[in-house]
Amino acid sequence: MYIVFEGIDGAGKSTQIRMLKEWLEANGFRVETLVEPTDSEVGKLIRKILQRPDAQSDNVQRTLGLLFAADRMLIMDKLDDESKIIISDRSFISSMAYQEPAEWIEVLNRYAKKPDLLILLDLDVKKSVSRTSGKDTFENEQFLTGVKENYLKIVKNYEHQIIDANNGVNKVSSDIKKAVAPYLGICPDCIM
Ligand SMILES: Nc1ncnc2c1ncn2[C@@H]1O[C@H](COP(=O)(O)OP(=O)(O)OP(=O)(O)O)[C@@H](O)[C@H]1O
Ligand SMILES: [Mg+2]
Repeated sequence: MYIVFEGIDGAGKSTQIRMLKEWLEANGFRVETLVEPTDSEVGKLIRKILQRPDAQSDNVQRTLGLLFAADRMLIMDKLDDESKIIISDRSFISSMAYQEPAEWIEVLNRYAKKPDLLILLDLDVKKSVSRTSGKDTFENEQFLTGVKENYLKIVKNYEHQIIDANNGVNKVSSDIKKAVAPYLGICPDCIM
């Protein structure tokens, strides 16, 4: 099973993936986690380019769109391992939510694997800004508002669960477990 976590910056993806992995392993499942961008050659290049002062310019953004698509193409084979639950921190759906133009991003990611379950951690933009220090500009808030709206539209095309990420860590975690359990045949009463 391929489970993808999505959500704006600071939504709690890394925190919640860690907690879900632990819980699934305690329930006897084998779990592998992935993060995009990956640590491949292309992923390293992406991180480097993200540091450029002109990273937000149109042409660098387009370059990043190409590289993100290439980076995820390099890990495609891993995603078909049926002996494990694969949990990914971001996916092509991040490209669709963050980058433009939509038609082009869609073409670049035509062969990207679709999630069996997409978990959207839906967080208020103001909370995102306060959880990720140092980026609290008006432009950033406006940008993230757009990304959040994009996410809410895009998820409708996939098997998905929207989780309210504004709650405390443990409440979010138990909401995620409840959402995932039916897909894995875990009894709902066993969830704490
Ligand atoms: N439910 C929560 N309530 C309050 N703080 C939280 C919650 N979940 C995570 N945090 C804190 O918010 C910050 C961002 O969380 P985390 O790194 O898990 O988010 P993320 O979605 O992976 O972010 P990024 O997109 O930047 O990788 C961390 O400092 C984390 O401890
Ligand atoms: Mg993270």
